Amino acid sequence: MTSLQENKIKNQNSFNQEDWSSAYQNVEKELVNEELKITSGKVIKNLNGTLLRNGPGILKRDKQWVHHPFDGDGMVTAINFKEGIAKITNKFVRTKGYLEEEKQNKFIYRGVFGTQKRGGLLNNFLDLKFKNIANTHIVKLGDQLLALWEAAGPHALDPKSLETIGLSTLNGVLKENEAFSAHPKLDLNSQASSELLVTFGVQTGPKSTIRLMEFSNSGSNSGELLFDRKDSFDGFSFLHDFAITSNWAIFLQNAIDFNPIPFLMGKKGAAQCLKSNPNKTAKFILIPRESGLFKGQSPLIIDAPKGFVFHHVNAYEKDDNIILDSIFYDDFPSVGPDENFRKIDFENYPDGKLKRSIINIKERSSHITTISSQCCEFATVNPKLIGLEATFTWMASTEQKSGNGPLQAIKKINLNTNEEYYWSAFPRGFVSEPIMVPKENSSIEDEGFLLIIVWNGKRRGSDLVILDSKDMKELAVYELPLNIPHGLHGSWIRD
Ligand SMILES: [Fe+2]
Repeated sequence: MTSLQENKIKNQNSFNQEDWSSAYQNVEKELVNEELKITSGKVIKNLNGTLLRNGPGILKRDKQWVHHPFDGDGMVTAINFKEGIAKITNKFVRTKGYLEEEKQNKFIYRGVFGTQKRGGLLNNFLDLKFKNIANTHIVKLGDQLLALWEAAGPHALDPKSLETIGLSTLNGVLKENEAFSAHPKLDLNSQASSELLVTFGVQTGPKSTIRLMEFSNSGSNSGELLFDRKDSFDGFSFLHDFAITSNWAIFLQNAIDFNPIPFLMGKKGAAQCLKSNPNKTAKFILIPRESGLFKGQSPLIIDAPKGFVFHHVNAYEKDDNIILDSIFYDDFPSVGPDENFRKIDFENYPDGKLKRSIINIKERSSHITTISSQCCEFATVNPKLIGLEATFTWMASTEQKSGNGPLQAIKKINLNTNEEYYWSAFPRGFVSEPIMVPKENSSIEDEGFLLIIVWNGKRRGSDLVILDSKDMKELAVYELPLNIPHGLHGSWIRD
């Protein structure tokens, strides 16, 4: 029996597809400061701050499903912890497209990941309008929260009520609807400011331009743009994420082509027109940070290993090398026009593996090693170590050791020894991105908490699970009075 067949049998025996897909439903309510009841474990008194999550909250309008959950309108959830009391608030991001579609109760925009308007090809042909769905990440910048979607500008939200203030240019920094990545990095180790939010925007075509921006995110000038540069490169770029070190912003330009014709014809969403090109070589693009030692210098472009990357974990500098940990897929995973995302066979999609690229700046070369072959996503390190060498990483992983499957476990890896530690929601629970909150006043890297929204397939509802990030023991579970579909990214804000 081939390993593919073995994995299929293992998957069929291990989880129930309906337990997993039942998370995909419209969010029906918006809560305001509703107190949560702990359902198991103990109240944690020394956890004070707010967990923020973003993700698709509308999956269906007038009986029409989105083609891919990434096309769902953004819904933000905030869970505030204060001296042992936890309260939840959630709100849809009131984007222009959300308000229009709410009013008409139907999809009036095509989605990037393949959602089409009703009325067939004729009604989608040459319709290039898009909806900024603000569904990918939620971060704090200055005194506002920003709901992010990488192809257009950020939506500012009130940090207490989560009410939408509106599409923001960040005080004139961005042109209206300028692309603004959904993966900013918070740098707590910069010389320039006690806290910097480093991010980018990409304009792509036959040539691509990366705008790298560094904002102060603390003190009296919080929210102000301190450093700004633009660099152009040959070729199409699909850059979802990046990594930083003290001196560099690191991008991986995937070896991918974009054929716009099926999109223009109204047959496919723009993201369904991306395809890996085996004849192309992926490139690392290293841009010197203007807050770093090499400011003003030109970017370095270095051949990268084969594979496709959405997310990087972290990077750091060591001698002449940049060490970059990323989640690599063999190919770009896309849900084709005839597939139903709620019924996908995981085994037909490439799985993510945690790999380490060692990029030698002097020799302009790179090589790659595999840290773990077990399928994973949403990996993180202690936020104090973004850009520095970290010993520990935490991530969402499959239950089984090989092949693709739903994310059902949280895994911790010691990057020095490759030892692995688990907490599992298997067989009926499905995890999301773990948020690592370091223990206050502790200098021990792995001391703290992991906050995870888990879809509980048994009771068909969402739980908040809190783990001890050191020993991976379950500390507390809250059954939430809100059903949150499988989500994307989030952050933690200290009080
Ligand atoms: Fe992402």
